[in-house]
Amino acid sequence: MSREKIVAGNWKMNNDSNQTRSLIGDLIKFNQVDATVMIAPAHTNLSIAQDLLSKSKIEVIAQNMHFSDSGAYTGEVSAQMLKSIGINTVIIGHSERRKYFKETDSELKLKVDMGLSSSMKVIFCIGEEIEDRRNNKHFEVIFNQINNSLFHLKDESWRKIVLAYEPVWAIGTGETASLVQIQEMHSMIRKNIADRYSMELANSISILYGGSVKPENSQDIFSLDDVDGGLIGGASLSANDFNKIISSI
Ligand code: 13P
Repeated sequence: MSREKIVAGNWKMNNDSNQTRSLIGDLIKFNQVDATVMIAPAHTNLSIAQDLLSKSKIEVIAQNMHFSDSGAYTGEVSAQMLKSIGINTVIIGHSERRKYFKETDSELKLKVDMGLSSSMKVIFCIGEEIEDRRNNKHFEVIFNQINNSLFHLKDESWRKIVLAYEPVWAIGTGETASLVQIQEMHSMIRKNIADRYSMELANSISILYGGSVKPENSQDIFSLDDVDGGLIGGASLSANDFNKIISSI
């Protein structure tokens, strides 16, 4: 079964409105490839990005949202608010949200449910800390993250789920996981889904890798059997580098 190939740029808390215009202006000069390309600017720049990309196949997505539909949650943004400006995909459970904003598996489960009930696609991030790997707990940690936030879903809901394996120790550090480490984790994730649901479902889920992906290593990473694309941080802030990564899929 052929799975959707995706390259998504997570801009994190980078780029003001002018920088957003300028980076998108550079990105749209490149030829489109046969893959889904997404960028996730800050909430304040989503509408600007949507306008600039209205004729492009690049999809604008959100980095986060709240699990409630509305209410007294100062500083938060709802699924409905995102949908109302045409955003149909959201990243949930990024390790920086888990670490700095103390998001728990059970909160993330609520966010996943809110995303799906709002007909949004969810890019759900999972990843272990370096200590987990040193203690040989990495498979268990990843299983638990998936089990606690996603294994309550019915088969059909998985059509809207994309997974992104991002080992925390490889994010923004320049240290990429080895090809063997990436492939064995991605195939373990797929096996867990096959065990819980079916092989057919497991083989239909796109699993992205994230963590220091750059033009120099993207082709090797994307050619692994169970890797269906990437979630790119730092390198997505350069139009040239991001384009090279996209072209390598
Ligand atoms: P880097 O590509 O900067 O390591 O970030 C990866 C990431 O966190 C994408 O969500």
